[in-house]
Amino acid sequence: MAVVIKTPEEIEGMRVAGRLAAEVLDFITPYVKPGITTAELDRLCHEYMRDVQGTTPAPLNYAPPGYPPYPKAICTSVNDVVCHGVPNEYVLKNGDILNIDITIITKDGFHGDTSRMFYIGEPSIQARRLCEVTFECMWIGILKVRPGAYLGDIGHAIQRHAEAHGYSVVREFCGHGIGRKFHEEPQVLHYGRPGTGLKLQPGMIFTIEPMINAGKPGIRELKGKRADGWTILTQDRSLSAQWEHTVLVTQTGYEVLTVSPGAPPMPQSLQAA
Ligand code: MF3
Ligand code: CO
Ligand code: CO
Repeated sequence: MAVVIKTPEEIEGMRVAGRLAAEVLDFITPYVKPGITTAELDRLCHEYMRDVQGTTPAPLNYAPPGYPPYPKAICTSVNDVVCHGVPNEYVLKNGDILNIDITIITKDGFHGDTSRMFYIGEPSIQARRLCEVTFECMWIGILKVRPGAYLGDIGHAIQRHAEAHGYSVVREFCGHGIGRKFHEEPQVLHYGRPGTGLKLQPGMIFTIEPMINAGKPGIRELKGKRADGWTILTQDRSLSAQWEHTVLVTQTGYEVLTVSPGAPPMPQSLQAA
């Protein structure tokens, strides 16, 4: 198994997939308010994919080795949920922070994978700061993407920014190559050393999706009565945030594929970085 360089036709298919995934997030944004359940957000997104876009949700029935089939169309990770939160009857309340992670498959078989953080009402200054710094982490990683750079450059830049703010990087989950498969090589770590790992070449497509904890980096799986085989939380119950884009390595740098009118732009503070 090697990292595949996408053909021009595949790249065009991935542009379409990326835009459609981002448009699901645009669609759901006005519904993300106190009082709605994460299961309702899942139903609305799934219907939009099926009835408006003609796409299918990649998570539904996804079953990597060691996991039960994923039961829903999207992931909804609230507060101390790091990732893979399964939509349920939880009612979003004022002050929550929420990650919605969308992966769609187009009719042509291409995957687009993107996630954003949402504020439910008015979260604390600390919660909002975590979300902002995590967004900066994603973009600082994206800005490292160009031919000749190394995956370790991306991971190092993300880790440095997170830790400079007193936050920590989750180690157990990473970005990934993506195309006709949901998860392919390479693994894109959100920590590391500059100049190490895979050397980037034009035509590679992968996600950058840092999970940043306000406290310690440790994680645990949701166990007991509410166990679902998927939901991952912080070990120390601190808040966790995540943002995700799917990115193409171009001849000169990067192209973000998961773009839509509602996708927040790169932070001003990074414009000249
Ligand atoms: N979308 C997640 C990612 O960024 C993967 C979710 S797997 C699922 O890689 F089955 F939980 F949906
Ligand atoms: Co992903
Ligand atoms: Co994702």
